[in-house]
Amino acid sequence: MGSLTFFARRADLEVEVRSAPGFTVRELRATDRQAILFGSESGWETLQPRFAAGDLCFGALDEQGRAVHTRWVTFTGTNVPELGMDFVPAPNAAYFYDGYTRPDARRQGIDAAVRAAIFQAMRSHGRNRVYSYVRNDNPEGLRAASRCQETVARVRYARLFSRAPLVFGSRSIGAASLVRAREQVADDARSRAAAWRAWFEGWLEKPLAERSIGFHQLPEEAFEAMARHIGGTLDLDAAKDVVLDVGCDSALVTRHVAKRCKRLVGVDFIPGMLIDAQRSRPRDEGVATAPRFAAADGRALPFADRTFTKAYCSGVVHTLPTVEDGFAMILEIVRVLEPGGRALIAAIPDRHKVRAARREAWRLGGITERARLVAALVLPTAVRRFVRGLLPGDKALRYLTYDLPALSQRLEARGLACAIVHYPPDFWSRDFERTRSNLAIDVPGPLSPG
Ligand SMILES: C[S@@+](CC[C@H](N)C(=O)[O-])C[C@H]1O[C@@H](n2cnc3c(N)ncnc32)[C@H](O)[C@@H]1O
Repeated sequence: MGSLTFFARRADLEVEVRSAPGFTVRELRATDRQAILFGSESGWETLQPRFAAGDLCFGALDEQGRAVHTRWVTFTGTNVPELGMDFVPAPNAAYFYDGYTRPDARRQGIDAAVRAAIFQAMRSHGRNRVYSYVRNDNPEGLRAASRCQETVARVRYARLFSRAPLVFGSRSIGAASLVRAREQVADDARSRAAAWRAWFEGWLEKPLAERSIGFHQLPEEAFEAMARHIGGTLDLDAAKDVVLDVGCDSALVTRHVAKRCKRLVGVDFIPGMLIDAQRSRPRDEGVATAPRFAAADGRALPFADRTFTKAYCSGVVHTLPTVEDGFAMILEIVRVLEPGGRALIAAIPDRHKVRAARREAWRLGGITERARLVAALVLPTAVRRFVRGLLPGDKALRYLTYDLPALSQRLEARGLACAIVHYPPDFWSRDFERTRSNLAIDVPGPLSPG
């Protein structure tokens, strides 16, 4: 267990020019590699990527040009090892980290001189706040930091065995925030990608009748109801529309949509799904042109811009590695649409509805359900994640939920028009109706002639 103190300083405060006699304080570049290595505890394989990421290094050089002290500055954020989280400064702030003074150069005012040089440099970079932290078991470091910076937060942590640390305290620190470590996020994304792919591939071992939306046996009417909803929201015209279905699965819904289009192309990133998609193709259901299928990832579609008039992607984005992948997939779908086209991202777990459903479950639920809900609300995220990690079951298969108004805002900032569409109260699935929403996205139309 331990704790950290975060410090901040306004960069526009007058900097007291400090000198460290006999040392030159300046910004160091990657070309100063030998000098930097002399004054660092890490090897070049750790330090070089910092330059590559745009971080800056400041140091104090002795008469032989060797750094006896180095300190790094980031504008984009970096890991706080004790917390296993990343510290991310706001766009007008900076964060300095990994300050190190060689033992033989301590107590000579070098640290303070480098800090002063950093504050001065930050003003020219347009940063008005500079953050740093010191471990609370380092009284000397705390004294040095508090001489020129003010305390803004204390954060406690506990590490159990080799698990990710539990962090207690606010994640919001002035104009900066503590977020899950990028590496952790990337690890989770990799596990999710592998787990969901294995899950979908597992479907192929089941008879077709048990596929789609998990291993449920759904009546044909359910597929038809989904197709009706997709067709209605996209305003499909069987005489005109050339439609893309992303994540078509074994075409159980697709073939009902195909009846409503001039032409339909389905893509799925699991090739085995497409074999079944071909098989499940109806021969006598009034489809003008038989749908075609291609194996492709919805985040990198093998089609030229403006290939389709309409597109939809139903029941897919919650299974992607991250919400950012969902955003990337939507942009990719929009890319292949003609001006004036429309996309439908269907059956998205809607964060606001999921929360409302939880409140309803509380109202109606018994003691066990209430205990579970209290635990979900009361326990800090880190503890919940930790406890979940101890429970059996594949955590990587959890649904992503989306904040649809926020997602719409991001898309609208790119010139698209969005509308959140709800399922009708008589929709075949009560769960979809209560916890999921649809996002209709209109691509701006072609310029009217003249
Ligand atoms: C839950 S099923 C939904 C199927 C169908 N759209 C429906 O509404 O019933 C999700 C499908 O999306 C596919 N999928 C998942 N991620 C994908 C991706 N990145 N690109 C293309 N297909 C993907 C899966 O292989 C699976 O067949």
